Amino acid sequence: MNKQLRKAVIAGNWKMNKTPSQAKALIEEMKPLVKDADCDVVICVPYVDLQTAVEATKGTNIKVGAENCHWEKSGAFTGEISTEMLTELGVEYVVIGHSERRTYFGETDVTVNKRVRAALDAGLTVILCVGEYLEQREQGVTFDVVGMQTRIALGGVSKEELSRIIIAYEPVWAIGTGRTATAEQANEVNHAIREIVADLYDREAADAFVVQYGGSMNAGNAADLLAQPDVDGGLIGGASLKAPDFAKIVEAASK
Ligand code: PGA
Repeated sequence: MNKQLRKAVIAGNWKMNKTPSQAKALIEEMKPLVKDADCDVVICVPYVDLQTAVEATKGTNIKVGAENCHWEKSGAFTGEISTEMLTELGVEYVVIGHSERRTYFGETDVTVNKRVRAALDAGLTVILCVGEYLEQREQGVTFDVVGMQTRIALGGVSKEELSRIIIAYEPVWAIGTGRTATAEQANEVNHAIREIVADLYDREAADAFVVQYGGSMNAGNAADLLAQPDVDGGLIGGASLKAPDFAKIVEAASK
């Protein structure tokens, strides 16, 4: 339904992988393979790789994102990075609320919302991650969990700003495990997220809203997942570190 209203977005999430020189080599390998993409192509890379990535992708169809940002403009926040530090480098996207941030670094729905707000104010496009743990799925609360994460993260976001938010539905049990959600499981949660956007805003906003799937998406399963009516792209970890695999996913999204 209305998939033609949305352009798919394939985003790599490199996590804590690749030094700057390795990043440059991977991007150079990737460039010719994704140049004809009929979808948006983004790579979200470690902070220290950002400058290299922005320079290496200049004049190409590859956009660059960070993997997090802080909500304050500056100050005593050791180890954090502000939105202005990102935008000055030419970074256009930022991942916020990844389950690894929530699980290992104590991020909450409230801090996720603050980071979303700051990123939007800085002109960045946000890839906002939501998703349930395996126990939550087994307890039948997936829709409650994802619904709450989505509603809180979108607090204070205007309808106009929604064009700069992408939600990535990433079931935590599927991340880096090789265990992908079935296409139907992915689609039903993605659909539910779209309905929350319709409830919070309106139908028009929901129909234009990009919802990705993430969690062990790879060259082999991407076409099936991306064919689902509510799956508008992917956030890809492991498979984004291999240029040919990432290119195959981009190709699947371009069909
Ligand atoms: P994965 O990671 O593709 O390695 O499962 C996805 C993600 O965490 O964004």
